[in-house]
Amino acid sequence: MSHLLNRSTFGDPKNAGNLMSLEDSNQLLNEWVPNERLRLHMKQVAAVMKAWALEKENADELTASKWELAGLLHDADWEKYPDDHCRIIIEELERRNIDPDVIHCIASHGPNFFGVEPVSKMDKMIYAIDELSGFIHAAALIRPTRYEGMDAKSVKKKLKTPSFAAQVSRNDITDALSRIDVSLDDLISFIIEHQKNVA
Ligand SMILES: [Fe+2]
Repeated sequence: MSHLLNRSTFGDPKNAGNLMSLEDSNQLLNEWVPNERLRLHMKQVAAVMKAWALEKENADELTASKWELAGLLHDADWEKYPDDHCRIIIEELERRNIDPDVIHCIASHGPNFFGVEPVSKMDKMIYAIDELSGFIHAAALIRPTRYEGMDAKSVKKKLKTPSFAAQVSRNDITDALSRIDVSLDDLISFIIEHQKNVA
């Protein structure tokens, strides 16, 4: 099954700055994503993306909201439309006249699946954060104290155990990190810190 989007431009530049209200995005998630674990994953990626924009990129509120929205919706079509994952949510956001940066970010969150290269820092960060966030959550769930006392070292050890969360592509994580000037340790620590309290 190919998930290649075979497109390189997304959305309409005249929609720059158009985001979605929290009410609308929650409604979409409730309709499209019955799976609570997947919803939590997107909420965690959204929280980490927003925090990264504010703390590391000096982003203003609008920009940080773009990062957050891309995180919140990046897998929105995964449960209902697994064969058309990414294409469906992208077309939905285009129909809703959402900011093209947000749509491009979602389209490039898995370049090896969707064939769209991350361009902006937002694109590159969602690629790096997405897989690691899911991996870290899986690692937290098997710890008796969950996120409490969790550090980058134990996560890196799990990454070197191929049988643990085997569906998480270590190659994608390495590839994503090669595109940004952030160490694996720092990114893991940042993700733990900003997703541990997301419920
Ligand atoms: Fe994801």
